[in-house]
Amino acid sequence: MHSDTDFTGKTVLVVGGSSGIGNGIAHAFRERGAQVHVWGTRADPADYDPADGSDLSGLGYTCVDVGDPDAIEAASLPFGTLDVLVLCQGTVVYKRGEFERPGWDRVMAVNLDSLMHIARKFKPQLLDSRGSVIVVSSISGLKANIGNPAYAASKAGAISLTKTLGQAWAPEGIRVNGLAPGLVDTKLTKVTTQNPERMAGALASIPQRRMGTPADMAGAAIFLASPLASYVTGHTLIVDGGLSL
Ligand SMILES: NC(=O)c1ccc[n+]([C@@H]2O[C@H](COP(=O)([O-])OP(=O)(O)OC[C@H]3O[C@@H](n4cnc5c(N)ncnc54)[C@H](OP(=O)(O)O)[C@@H]3O)[C@@H](O)[C@H]2O)c1
Repeated sequence: MHSDTDFTGKTVLVVGGSSGIGNGIAHAFRERGAQVHVWGTRADPADYDPADGSDLSGLGYTCVDVGDPDAIEAASLPFGTLDVLVLCQGTVVYKRGEFERPGWDRVMAVNLDSLMHIARKFKPQLLDSRGSVIVVSSISGLKANIGNPAYAASKAGAISLTKTLGQAWAPEGIRVNGLAPGLVDTKLTKVTTQNPERMAGALASIPQRRMGTPADMAGAAIFLASPLASYVTGHTLIVDGGLSL
């Protein structure tokens, strides 16, 4: 049976696929037949705890600190081809650390600079496969963000880069799209989910009255990478239960 969302025989790299949203996206591609490899920050897959939203079963794994451009250059792919590149890496610095240089530099390096470095690195493989890139930004890139100037600016930059790469690479057959999550329960959002008062406030502000799940995000990623989205490029799909409305 033909299916537009069957990825059998396809290769997928999910940067930031070791936990949370990226891990959910990685498994969604794996369940649809793809060979999936992920990058994360820990030395070994055994260092990941399922309680943190990490399930590395059935996935290949490499440790790459994408905040270091040299580490990106040195990293290699376990497959000769690449059909889908998902850029889901992300970090945040709390307690106003992003107002200081080390915090600003680190968040911009991981959340924005690495998107360009990794996309450029794998462009030859994406050209060969007429593949696609999916950039995970955030609705934080659409507005001001209390206490996190680098996070918000990096995500606005990610949305902008998605447009410009989408435009630049479309003539060569590569589609570049993104998704902007709202509030998703991951280790990145514990500062909210582990604070009952904040959590109640957050839920009240989400029209669908629930947090998003990695599976909700994966649905959008599968669509964007599939032939169902063959004429969509440079677009960032908001997946937030209405939060940004
Ligand atoms: N959760 C939300 O509500 C939400 C909302 C909007 C956007 N987002 C975005 O969604 C993406 C995934 O976040 P998440 O919520 O799923 O959090 P998460 O579980 O912490 O996942 C973040 C991923 O990025 C990886 N990563 C972080 N720094 C890295 C580095 N220097 N080098 C390589 N990989 C690095 C992490 O690796 P480790 O597993 O080794 O830490 C992990 O795989 C991020 O871009 C985030 O900004 C999240």
